[in-house]
Amino acid sequence: MNQKKRHLVTAALIYANGPIHIGHLAGCYIPSDLYVRFLRSKGEDVKFISGTDEHGVPITIKARDEKKSPQEVVDYYYNLINDSFNEFGISFDIFSRTSKKIHHKTSSDFFLNLYDKKTFKEITSSQYYDEKENQFLSDRYIIGKCPTCDNENAYGDQCESCGKTLSPMDLKNPKSTLSGNTPVLKETKNWFLPMDKLQTNIEKYINTKKDWKSNVIGQCKSWLNDGLKPRAMTRDLDWGVKVPVKGAEGKVLYVWFDAPIGYITATKELDPDNWEKYWKDEESSLVHFIGKDNIVFHTIIFPMMLMEHGDYILPENVPANEFMNLEGEKISTSRNWAVWLHEYLKDFPNMQDELRYCLITNLPENKDSDFSWKDFQQKNNNELVAILGNYVNRVFVLCENFFNKKVPKISSVEIDKQIFSELENIKEKIESSIRAYKFREAMSYVIDVARLGNKYLTDTEPWKIFKDDPDRVKAIIHNSIQIVANISILCEPFLPFTSKKIKSHLNISDLSWDSVGSNIMPTDHIISGKAHIFSKIEDQLIEDQIKKLKLSNENNNVMPQKNTIEFDDFTKVDIRVGTVIEAENVPKSDKLLKLKVDTGLDQRTILSGISKYYSPDDILNKKVMVLINLKPRKMMGFESQGMLLLADDSDGNLSLMQPDSDISDGSIVA
Ligand code: MF3
Ligand code: ZN
Repeated sequence: MNQKKRHLVTAALIYANGPIHIGHLAGCYIPSDLYVRFLRSKGEDVKFISGTDEHGVPITIKARDEKKSPQEVVDYYYNLINDSFNEFGISFDIFSRTSKKIHHKTSSDFFLNLYDKKTFKEITSSQYYDEKENQFLSDRYIIGKCPTCDNENAYGDQCESCGKTLSPMDLKNPKSTLSGNTPVLKETKNWFLPMDKLQTNIEKYINTKKDWKSNVIGQCKSWLNDGLKPRAMTRDLDWGVKVPVKGAEGKVLYVWFDAPIGYITATKELDPDNWEKYWKDEESSLVHFIGKDNIVFHTIIFPMMLMEHGDYILPENVPANEFMNLEGEKISTSRNWAVWLHEYLKDFPNMQDELRYCLITNLPENKDSDFSWKDFQQKNNNELVAILGNYVNRVFVLCENFFNKKVPKISSVEIDKQIFSELENIKEKIESSIRAYKFREAMSYVIDVARLGNKYLTDTEPWKIFKDDPDRVKAIIHNSIQIVANISILCEPFLPFTSKKIKSHLNISDLSWDSVGSNIMPTDHIISGKAHIFSKIEDQLIEDQIKKLKLSNENNNVMPQKNTIEFDDFTKVDIRVGTVIEAENVPKSDKLLKLKVDTGLDQRTILSGISKYYSPDDILNKKVMVLINLKPRKMMGFESQGMLLLADDSDGNLSLMQPDSDISDGSIVA
């Protein structure tokens, strides 16, 4: 529970090298916006900070790709991102940028503070240097062969093929991506944060955090168990905040050093007179909303920097989310497998809350989740339209038809007390879910209020008793209008546009969270009648989106990465080297070859759909790789007892996988 006097809430400073997509929204922008809107509605003191992260290698790479200067790249994306956040209704108090002067000053001063305290360790090391381009190469600018999986195009920091974290020295046959040349090693001095020495302090801090999410604690523990190592806080690069000390020419602060300080800069910018109390007073609570790839930086590295500095409070919580997939596959910006916010806003004008709802109900709070267009349509049609919209509209119509849009007068005896105590109850449930960062759960309680209201109407059937008992109907409609007004408050953090619409139909202005559970709408108040809050989404719109997605993907010709699996899943697969000892066509099949393969364990029949590419003679006596523990399958009257491994491009070309030396049959492939 987070009940401090004031709150500073941050959402990750996003790299200004691409537009926003739904993964970003579900990762941190929607949860943080929801949380902040709730706190504001409670009347609490809160500042909501975000912006763009405009330094670092990803920006320089994008600039190179687009043949622009880094400044041009970040200017373009800052505007695009800022505009789409605005239109989507993310209610930052400030959306700043790290390329601003004030940020260079703030982060540079921060560095100097630690420098003067002798926090950093100066380390001279050999780094790869591109002699043609006259510059040191950051990890991402070096590719080479992965020592683990032999992927030829592994990056200096990671192999995207096997996922292993690498350092440039691990690569075999390294090449500069700038010039294509082989880089040379050259000595350079950098300033390191001695994370090994600071580990104990961080452990103590993290151990006090009993309410952090398990996915966050899990990652922290795994870093700590591995033992922290010194990490360079300066880099040989020409884009970023200049390192403000002698002998550091041509060096800038490591982007993960300057970026989180961007939260401090932005607070300063927002409230130059009062920013310090948000950062330096123990009565303030600092909460960072991020996606899972940012966890270590916000739970270990940034807190270390803050501790070393000494003037600042430490993060109270870092409620990081996991990732959201799209139609069962990992979102990929390079392959255009994404739903881009600026495109959504164009394709679905004034439908911000519809997307927001679908994302909230699917937030990857504890594990990766999935967005699909069909699900989006269903949630809209079956929940927003059929439950929430329908209920609100029903009440408005009844009030219009029976009472000419006037909130009917009742005596207190007639109030159905139970309805209000249930409202009070749900309000408290929503509140404690939000404070525990369980937004999916909180969302479902909001819909429950509409269900409750619908049930109240169905149970009391005012349309049937109007003639016989008009007073009772007055009471029912009066109460129903109160429920709708309560919904307009409860749904604000979740569905801000909807909340506004309902309030405008009720002719009321903003009310605070704590008025929920009471009579809000005065007797005789005139409402503006029928309200069409949500509309059904037709199949065509959804099919268009699916088509658009598939098309951009096909144009890229490469199948997106499948979902992550556990190592255990992989070890279930038994692949062996074998030799084809017999091969013949399968009668009446234009695809299949029937093979006999020596697997080292046995000789077995395998059918393979390769006859368009390989004749029996082509394949006879060839070494192959065979999946041997696949359940036997009948094909064209024969039982196939395994599967040959083939590469398959998206145009349907097949290529046989073979070992590249004469290794014996039965060897394990893994
Ligand atoms: N730019 C990073 C990303 O998009 C996040 C930076 S968060 C900050 O993953 F704390 F460093 F600002
Ligand atoms: Zn690898």
